[in-house]
Amino acid sequence: MAEIAPSILAADFANLQRDVEMLNVSQADYIHVDIMDGMFVPNISFGMPVCEAVHKHATKPLDVHLMIEQPDRYLEAFAKAGASILTVHYEACPHLHRTIQRIKEVGALPGVALNPHTPVEVLSEILGDVSLVLIMSVNPGFGGQKFIQNTYQKIARLQALKEKFGYTFKIEVDGGVNLDNAPLLVKEGVNILVAGSFVFSSEDPLKTIADLKTS
Ligand code: DX5
Ligand code: ZN
Repeated sequence: MAEIAPSILAADFANLQRDVEMLNVSQADYIHVDIMDGMFVPNISFGMPVCEAVHKHATKPLDVHLMIEQPDRYLEAFAKAGASILTVHYEACPHLHRTIQRIKEVGALPGVALNPHTPVEVLSEILGDVSLVLIMSVNPGFGGQKFIQNTYQKIARLQALKEKFGYTFKIEVDGGVNLDNAPLLVKEGVNILVAGSFVFSSEDPLKTIADLKTS
């Protein structure tokens, strides 16, 4: 059984409190918060004030996904804005080891994310230092995109590394997750499923979250 992290990128921003309260009573384990800077990814989402506002109403930990350049500049600010997990992109961090240590110093759990074209093997020297590896199953920047099929074998390779060395990090997958691919992802070793549009566009988001959880 996987943990579920609904992405509020797909929520109704004019009714964010209502949607966060829905997630509070759901079977979701985290609230996934997508931060986009218009530089690392083509899109801009929102920043610390919105994260803080979500945190004010949320009873679940915030899983903050930083799709931004030079994320070190904002780690402390997002920790103060309520992030429990802070995930940075491998592709945005030339000094990833330092960045991971910094996330721990500001009091959050460190995660590292990989774009679809980045092989899991580049993380071999850092896997023992992170709490989470986020595998992007779409190109980051937008919700509602089509799941990339290559993700399955990538997760299998990451899971094999995890078992071989006895690492404890969780494997999260993000992008195009739905009830068709969720069971296969869990079978390959995914611990946390992020789902945005599939949850918030569904007629009954509470049931959709529960269905994903038992997938
Ligand atoms: C994409 C974001 C995702 C997005 C997922 O760049 O990182 O978290 O919200 O949305 P869906 O589930 O609609 O693909
Ligand atoms: Zn995300």
